[in-house]
Amino acid sequence: MQLDRLLQSQGFGSRKECRAMVRDGLVKIAGVVVDDPFAEYDPAGLTFEIDEWEWEYSDLVYIALYKPANYECSHKPKHNESVYHLLPDPVVARGAQSVGRLDVDTTGLLLLSDDGMFIHAISSAKRQVTKTYRATTAEEVTAEQIEKLLAGVMLVDEREPVSALQARKLDDKLIELVVDQGKYHLVKRIIAAAGNHVSQLHRTGVGALSLEDGSLPEMEPGDWCYLRPKHLALLGYNAAEQSK
Ligand code: URA
Repeated sequence: MQLDRLLQSQGFGSRKECRAMVRDGLVKIAGVVVDDPFAEYDPAGLTFEIDEWEWEYSDLVYIALYKPANYECSHKPKHNESVYHLLPDPVVARGAQSVGRLDVDTTGLLLLSDDGMFIHAISSAKRQVTKTYRATTAEEVTAEQIEKLLAGVMLVDEREPVSALQARKLDDKLIELVVDQGKYHLVKRIIAAAGNHVSQLHRTGVGALSLEDGSLPEMEPGDWCYLRPKHLALLGYNAAEQSK
């Protein structure tokens, strides 16, 4: 692939901007400045350096972000920072979107990608990818509340009762919940319907990917990492299969 085209595909700007970057000596491959924007490279596995940053070529990008509180999952946030400001500009420019959304005050694991099939697969109700949350509550958690969460609670605007797949009390005011639906404010709404109130919500996992069991690199709030094929496999997603 021609270098200018290759850089454009990775979110570094228009073909013209990418050509200018190369001609200005900003791009290195194998430690050497490349100044021919029309040079041909095999993109598979190619790494290149721009402004001291090392990038690796990828057809599609998959990211896990540890979302901090007070960030909105929106490109046009209303009152806070955008989660997209936590990612490098080229990743955003190539169109990475969050897989569903977390509320502004919710912390924890958020996946992002520019692969529409992946976003659909992970958020689709059919595939029922589980999400694990830890909810700190305003009131002490009772056995009755846990029973209600497991049996199902009625929510306004829903015809059927909504239940958690798993619900367990971890501490006086702490519940761990596993759900397989992605409805708006789901966890806060079911806990409210069960008779308590969420004061803080943290997502520890999506499917078999967790911030806590070593399935992802260790991350602090605001950190992100690329998801590798082994991570996608844990989510039951095979990018190569999907593109066939
Ligand atoms: N459920 C909620 O209520 N909020 C979130 O951010 C995620 C799930």
